[in-house]
Amino acid sequence: MKVSIIGAGDVGAQTANEIAGRQIADEVVLVDIVDGLPQGRALDIQQYCPTIDSETKVFGSNSYADTRGSDVVVIVAGSPRKPGMTRDDLLGINKKIVESVTKSVANYSPNAVLLVVTNPVDAMTYAAWKASGFESKRVLGMAGVLDTARLKTLIAEKAGCLFGDIEAMVIGAHGDDMVPMMSHAKIKNRSVTEFLTKNEIDEIIKKTQLASQKIIELTKRSTSFAPAGSIAKMVEAILNDSRDIMPCSAYLEGEYGYKDVYIGVPAVLGKDGVESVIEYELDENEKVMFERSVTHAKENIAKLGFGEMPEKVIDDTKDVEDEKKSTFVSDNMENAISKITADMQKLGNEPDQGSGNVENAKGEKSPISSG
Ligand code: LAC
Repeated sequence: MKVSIIGAGDVGAQTANEIAGRQIADEVVLVDIVDGLPQGRALDIQQYCPTIDSETKVFGSNSYADTRGSDVVVIVAGSPRKPGMTRDDLLGINKKIVESVTKSVANYSPNAVLLVVTNPVDAMTYAAWKASGFESKRVLGMAGVLDTARLKTLIAEKAGCLFGDIEAMVIGAHGDDMVPMMSHAKIKNRSVTEFLTKNEIDEIIKKTQLASQKIIELTKRSTSFAPAGSIAKMVEAILNDSRDIMPCSAYLEGEYGYKDVYIGVPAVLGKDGVESVIEYELDENEKVMFERSVTHAKENIAKLGFGEMPEKVIDDTKDVEDEKKSTFVSDNMENAISKITADMQKLGNEPDQGSGNVENAKGEKSPISSG
C-alpha cells in the first residue's frame, strides 16, 4: 500500500510520521515544492521507524511523478491560518493550490482515494472532486474525526471519564458552525446529559467549535498533532477497508435532505473512500445548526464558482457577535488573500509557508505551498 502526502509543512510531515510510525502503509511519499524540505523530513521520519519497529519506507520528493500508483493521496498543501484568521479567509488562495495539486496527483494515481485537509475543507474537497474527475465517493475531506477528538477531550475533562468510554461525533461544516451531535453523545453507553448539565454541554459545544483558534493564538502557527492523528486514522480505515463509521466531509445526494454539497456527516469508510453516508436522527437544535453548516459550505462552494449560492443563511440562532464576524470576514477576504500572498513571498522557504513549483505529469510547473 502506498500513501502520498502533498505538503511537507507541520501537518504533512506529522501525518507522514503517524502513518509510517503506525505502519499503516508499505510506502509513504512526502511531496513539497521546497527543495530539501520533504527529503529531509522523510529521512528524519525514516530514521524514527526502527525505534518503533516499523518497516514502512519513507521518501521525500519535489516531483509528483514519485506519487505514481498511490492508493491514498492526502492533500494538505495550502496556506495555513494565522492568528485572527478564519478558515474561510483562505478560500481564494487555497482553491488554486488544491486544484493544481489535484490535477497532478489524479494523473499519476487515477485509482486513488483523495483525502483533502486544506481549509476551508468542505469547499476545498468540492474543488478537488471537480478537478479530479473522480466519482464523488473517492474524494473526501478530513475534519469530523479531528473535531470529535476535541469534543472527547472536553467531555472527558468535565465528566472525569476516560476518552475510550465516550461515544460522540461532530458533523457539519469544519468551522464555527460545526455540529457536535450531543443528542447521541454517550459515556459508558449512557447519555452525557446524565453526567453534565445543560450549561456544561453548551460550554463544551462552544469550546469544540473554537478549539483550533485557541491553539493557533497560543502557538502562532497551525495545529498539527491532532490533525495528523485524525488523518492517519482515516487512511488506516481506507487502506484496511475497515468499514468503520467516522464523520468526514462527504458528498451528499439527498442524505439529510441536502444535495450537491460536501459536508461533515457520519460515513462508512472503506477501500473506495466513502462507502455510504449514515443518517442519524438529529434533534431540532442540531437540525438548525446542520442547516446553517450546509448553507455556509454551499456559500463557500458558490464563491469558488460551483453550484448555486443558497438562499439567505438562517439567522434566528445567530448572535450579534457572529453576525458581525461574518460581515467582517466577507468584506475583508480580498485583503486577507493579498496579505497572505505578500507574507508567503516574504517568508519564502519557511516550512509552514513554502511556495514555489512542483512539476506535474506534463512537466509543467504548478504552484503549491506546504501544509
Ligand atoms: C484544525 C485545522 C486542521 O481544525 O482546520 O486544526
